[in-house]
Amino acid sequence: MTTPKEILAEVDRLRSEVERHNTLYHTLDTPIIPDADYDALLARLVELETRYSLDTSDSPSQRVGAAPLSSFVQVKHEAPMLSLDKVFSADDLRAFETRLLKRIDMDRDIRYSCEPKVDGVAVSLLYERGELVRAATRGDGVVGEDITHNVRTIRNIPLRLKGDGIPKVLEARGEIYLGKSGFEALNAKALREETKVFVNPRNTAAGTLRQLDSRRVAKVPLEMLCYSVGLRSDEPFPNNLSEVFETFEHWGLPTNPQRETVTGIEQCIAYCERLLEKRNALEYEIDGAVIKVDSLALQAALGTNARTPRWAMAYKFPAEEKSTRLLDVEFQVGRTGTITPVARLEPVFVGGVTVSNTTLHNMDEVARLGVRIGDQVLVRRAGDVIPKIVGVLPGSDNPNPRAIELPPCCPVCGSKLEKEGEVLVRCSGALICAAQRKESIRHFASRAALDIEGLGEKLIEQLVDSKRIEDVSDLFTLEASELQLMDRMGAKSANKLVSAIAAARTTTLSKLLYSLSIREVGEATASQLANYFGSLEALQRASLEELISVPDVGPIVAEHIKNFLSNDRNKTLIQRLIDRGVNWPDIEVTGLDAKPLAGQTLVLTGTLESLSRNEAKSRLIALGAKVAGSVSKATSAVYAGPGAGSKLTKAQELGIEVKDEDSLIALLEKLEG
Ligand code: IVH
Repeated sequence: MTTPKEILAEVDRLRSEVERHNTLYHTLDTPIIPDADYDALLARLVELETRYSLDTSDSPSQRVGAAPLSSFVQVKHEAPMLSLDKVFSADDLRAFETRLLKRIDMDRDIRYSCEPKVDGVAVSLLYERGELVRAATRGDGVVGEDITHNVRTIRNIPLRLKGDGIPKVLEARGEIYLGKSGFEALNAKALREETKVFVNPRNTAAGTLRQLDSRRVAKVPLEMLCYSVGLRSDEPFPNNLSEVFETFEHWGLPTNPQRETVTGIEQCIAYCERLLEKRNALEYEIDGAVIKVDSLALQAALGTNARTPRWAMAYKFPAEEKSTRLLDVEFQVGRTGTITPVARLEPVFVGGVTVSNTTLHNMDEVARLGVRIGDQVLVRRAGDVIPKIVGVLPGSDNPNPRAIELPPCCPVCGSKLEKEGEVLVRCSGALICAAQRKESIRHFASRAALDIEGLGEKLIEQLVDSKRIEDVSDLFTLEASELQLMDRMGAKSANKLVSAIAAARTTTLSKLLYSLSIREVGEATASQLANYFGSLEALQRASLEELISVPDVGPIVAEHIKNFLSNDRNKTLIQRLIDRGVNWPDIEVTGLDAKPLAGQTLVLTGTLESLSRNEAKSRLIALGAKVAGSVSKATSAVYAGPGAGSKLTKAQELGIEVKDEDSLIALLEKLEG
């Protein structure tokens, strides 16, 4: 198909518009259009590129992510990605300079590039003729992983370099990180949805970059700062790091504006002190400074040790710890009943914020810390954004110690507490527990669920406490006249809320499933379930085995889904929602039937040598097969590798066909074309 000229022109215009807004937003920090307008431009671009099958390798549309990979490809770094030696004091920095001067037999002052040590993930970006062709993690320094698909979604990384003098080959290295506000927003979402809370921005960035699905990565506001050059072709190049950074900027590569070039180690020490002062005001976490010899010729002359360059040194900031008193411990009840001990502290200023409460996670953690109410405790807010209690201050007095004990029953509804696994404790009250009900109503109304604007936390409290609302289905019986009587509610907002509730009646299966607070069913799983089964009835009929066939669903999640859907109270709740007008269209799942392995239920067991079991599973599912976790009469075939045990025996007993890894590979290759 030839693409009409007007379309090509529009695509060109959209690409440069989107790129211009990217620069305004990420590099210059001065966006000039609302996010929604930006999203609309990008959506139109993606639509045209898809419709006319246009080449997108350096299009800003790459920023939204692409279809998931089945595994990561390993990448060998041409020049190893080194690590840094580290010191903890000014004197150690002075000793570093003494060693340098001795080695290069020089007594004049050395010029240094001083930079923040950003707490993220080291990454290499390879540009060929100005185009980003590959991005890789550091890995063990010699071999990393190809994460190009994910890195293309990061908005401050240019997909094509601009300006003049661009070398044929250029490898820029730097740190990909998640800013403090991005991290806090993700964790606020995780708390609301009761999914796993992230420990710190660094782990979150690392975990995000290891996702196979770049569309998920696109939703996390990762950024990059470049700090060094790896491989490069032989064109003229700057003589020192400070000029490299300026040249990088000119080509559109992000560098750290906090860097400084100074003379002599004393000025480096002064830089470290200034940086420490600024640390909390920075939008990203740093754990120190990096001091590097500025001259590239001197760097080459100094060379490297086994894993670290001789010309650079990390100066690590001291950990930030303060002591304060543990005033009390309260037990909070989450949406699905998890009980979490939360420490109330005498407010203390540590790491740039005032901390007055912090989670103790679970009773195992309480035991590990050996902490009692009234103790003087140490609070750390180091690389972590979430402050944590790291121990009891040795030798401190506690005239009136009180042990921290789990309450005998749910502190909110009085129901029995149930232990789950090793450390989790849960309130068994489910729908009778006001705390769980409030949280689940809040979740039901949240943006990613049924999106009922105007149904705030305070209003939910009042509605539940006054017993006007028992469960989420009662929301659909609310009238403006009664809402007006609630605190802080006028006629206008009451009417608006009633319209928002009415509009929320029409939804999608995926949003409905997510809204119901089924344990461990987040947005992604809900959408997988909806697409796989197409209708609520089909999902309700599904066996555990069928549930496990859904990508993302393991045996535990499958069990949660089954339990939820077969519970009588939940059945009544769903029926009540339907009776009160909640509706959604079914999804056609004919796509599955059209696939070559549709209707087949396969089981994988034993070790596979040429691919991982997960990879085999997702490739088979992509071909329409169901991949079950156990063998039954419904199993079509079992693929067994070395070490297969009970599943193999069961298959033999039932007379089910057993095949080996070679035939699995042959099947995949044949059907994947
Ligand atoms: S230079 C040979 N500069 O720190 C030079 N590293 O502990 C290699 N890092 O793996 C690194 N900010 O991930 C350099 N301004 C900076 C840095 C930095 C953070 C990280 C990097 C490296 C680790 C070493």
